[in-house]
Amino acid sequence: MNESNLAEYKSKLRTPEQIIDMIEDGWYINAGQAAGGPVTLFDALGKNKAKDVTLQASLITGDFPFCHDDCGLWHEAWFFGPAERAWHKQHLSTFTPAHLSQCANRVLTRTKPSMFWGVSAPMDNHGNFNIAYGIAYEMDMLEEADIVVLEVNENAPHTIGENTVSIRDVDFFVESAHEPLTTNAVPTTELDDIIGRNVASLVEDRSVIQLGIGGIPNAVAEHFTDKKDLGVHTEMITDSMASLYEAGVITNRNKQIYRNVMVGTFVFGSKELYQFVDNNPTVQLIRGSRSNDPFVIAQNDNMVSINTCIQIDLSGQVCSEEIGTKQYSGTGGQFDTAYGAQRSRGGKSIIALHSTAKNDAISTIVPFHDRGAVVSLGRNDVDYVVTEYGVAQLRGRTVSQRVEALIAIAHPNFRDALSRQADEFEIW
Ligand code: COA
Repeated sequence: MNESNLAEYKSKLRTPEQIIDMIEDGWYINAGQAAGGPVTLFDALGKNKAKDVTLQASLITGDFPFCHDDCGLWHEAWFFGPAERAWHKQHLSTFTPAHLSQCANRVLTRTKPSMFWGVSAPMDNHGNFNIAYGIAYEMDMLEEADIVVLEVNENAPHTIGENTVSIRDVDFFVESAHEPLTTNAVPTTELDDIIGRNVASLVEDRSVIQLGIGGIPNAVAEHFTDKKDLGVHTEMITDSMASLYEAGVITNRNKQIYRNVMVGTFVFGSKELYQFVDNNPTVQLIRGSRSNDPFVIAQNDNMVSINTCIQIDLSGQVCSEEIGTKQYSGTGGQFDTAYGAQRSRGGKSIIALHSTAKNDAISTIVPFHDRGAVVSLGRNDVDYVVTEYGVAQLRGRTVSQRVEALIAIAHPNFRDALSRQADEFEIW
């Protein structure tokens, strides 16, 4: 270890409380998302005394004192998870609409972070750190922040890619021994399994895949075991991708860009996944502005995006992020990947969903969206829609053809009503 780097590291080392004491009234603090949330700083944030402080962080994973105590915080996120939904209910949190490819630059046009907080594995022999769990927006924020703080944790993976940070670009370090933040794969249901099989039937050998967030994408991956030479260009690197790589299904050898390498912008899953990406040059993290740029995605042939949604209307508009007027998650990279895949030679974009929700009480295929629900993927950009009842290809189809195709994959209990409503509201 280089002695001068070590001396610089020690001189920049602070306690979490010392960092919290630096916060001034009106500051914006930007922190890493999901597994990249700095747990030790988040724990200390409950002691914040400054006023009108905004925390910008998405998919906060865990239950921290600042989630409950009145510590002068306002919160902003571009993707909601359970923590954000709970704050939103208490009017302590708001949502920033943005595609993942632009989630950093949209915020930066409005404000710059006073402080950036990220998580890194320990310093390497050359004085470098890494933003361990992902760089959907983190590198862009780090570069613009007035003060950069890294939480260094020997349990964090040393990931490889565009996420390297020199000791010279960090103002302060905090040490943490916290276990990595994980998310468990949702167990696959019988219905997920049928949908997974339907989706897998559309994916050819040598395709390059993106898998979205939720139970269905995991089930889809389970049906890829007999595919050959798949590649990955995605936003979220998941356990199922690690398993398919280890099984020899994902080889990345037929990609046009990032050949032989699996790329994504963040990693979120089990401890085994973090071990898989640790010091693994065949997995690389690239900025969200690049992983999700539709024109970058389109450079791979046979790109297939696979995402899910809450509701789809009969003309093909997809709502993936709200239940009625309530923000549930976010657009994430749904449009980016769907559009990018359709621009790819031989590409396909798939939205897979259960035909019903709430124990079969409601249809997810509807004549029009619930009042106030936003459209995450416009009808001009929708391609394949898959349920447990089959596949509807909407790209290039008229509204009449779409209505017919979507009713055919709706739950049988709702098909007659949907036909009547399509007539009544003159949809087709
Ligand atoms: N009406 C009312 N509620 C509905 C509904 C509908 N049509 N469809 C689903 N729900 C409810 C479910 O009952 C569930 O509620 P609960 O948490 O109280 O049980 C909730 O919505 C989530 O549904 P579920 O099917 O469990 O969601 P999921 O975990 O599989 O995630 C999305 C599905 C759509 C929310 C998720 O994929 C997402 O956020 N997508 C947008 C972002 C994206 O696709 N990014 C791309 C790449 S990462």
